Amino acid sequence: MATNAIRPLANRTALVTGGARRLGRAIALNLADAGANVAITFRDSERDAVSTVHALRNRGVAAFALHCDVTSEASVRSAIPAAIRELRRLDILVNNAGNYETVQFPDITVAQWDAIFASNTRGPFLVTQTALAELKRRKGRVINLGSLGGILPWASHPHYCSSKAALHMLTKVLAKALAPEIAVNCVAPGMIDLADRSADADFFARMAAKTPMLRNGTKEEIAAAVRFFATAPHFITGQIMTVDGGLSLG
Ligand SMILES: NC(=O)c1ccc[n+]([C@@H]2O[C@H](COP(=O)([O-])OP(=O)(O)OC[C@H]3O[C@@H](n4cnc5c(N)ncnc54)[C@H](OP(=O)(O)O)[C@@H]3O)[C@@H](O)[C@H]2O)c1
Repeated sequence: MATNAIRPLANRTALVTGGARRLGRAIALNLADAGANVAITFRDSERDAVSTVHALRNRGVAAFALHCDVTSEASVRSAIPAAIRELRRLDILVNNAGNYETVQFPDITVAQWDAIFASNTRGPFLVTQTALAELKRRKGRVINLGSLGGILPWASHPHYCSSKAALHMLTKVLAKALAPEIAVNCVAPGMIDLADRSADADFFARMAAKTPMLRNGTKEEIAAAVRFFATAPHFITGQIMTVDGGLSLG
């Protein structure tokens, strides 16, 4: 299969869950810039998904969006095979869809605990399992979106941190269980400034001051890390790459 330095993913395909907006959109665009045909899934953000598909096609690749709720087994078992059929093959699965929530430990309800694990941990399990045969056939790659919160214990996010720590472990377990056909890695973003006007500017400024690189990260930097694993030697597997400007170094 022909590849080149400018479009190393030419003739390859990628599926990005939750790819309509924010980090997922940046990841999808970066993979398209590398030449991959891209499918994205959305849950609520259909309008954003349409706009992202438009931006993907403007990069000269085939692209489409389809609805998938990663917390629903029925939805995953129908949407993921449909995406693979339309893509004709699947080389790269990016488990990006997830949720974040701030709740103090005494206040976390069982429903909140289960909901975070359903999207952040069970979702990647279900999607990966559903795509498994095709990824094996293509000697493909799985790239999970973990979190600095899966490494550092954030006291105000017990369920979120636990769900991402579990995803980090799932990454390592699957790297062994799915070898030698599939490489499984994880990008763990730190503080990423998405230029969201509703974000707490003081909080972001404080976090930047604490970070060795003296700033927060960008969505493009997370997308570049995902592209690294999408194009890296297949021998690299089971790795959790923290992209945090050194914040986790203490
Ligand atoms: N942003 C950060 O600073 C940061 C830091 C650390 C880790 N991360 C991780 O990086 C990934 C992307 O971050 P983000 O901030 O862009 O995430 P986000 O905006 O919170 O969520 C990304 C997408 O996930 C989709 N999603 C949520 N629940 C879903 C479900 N049940 N089924 C299907 N899709 C679902 C949503 O799709 P719809 O909009 O279509 O509903 C949403 O657009 C996440 O896994 C996140 O935990 C992000």
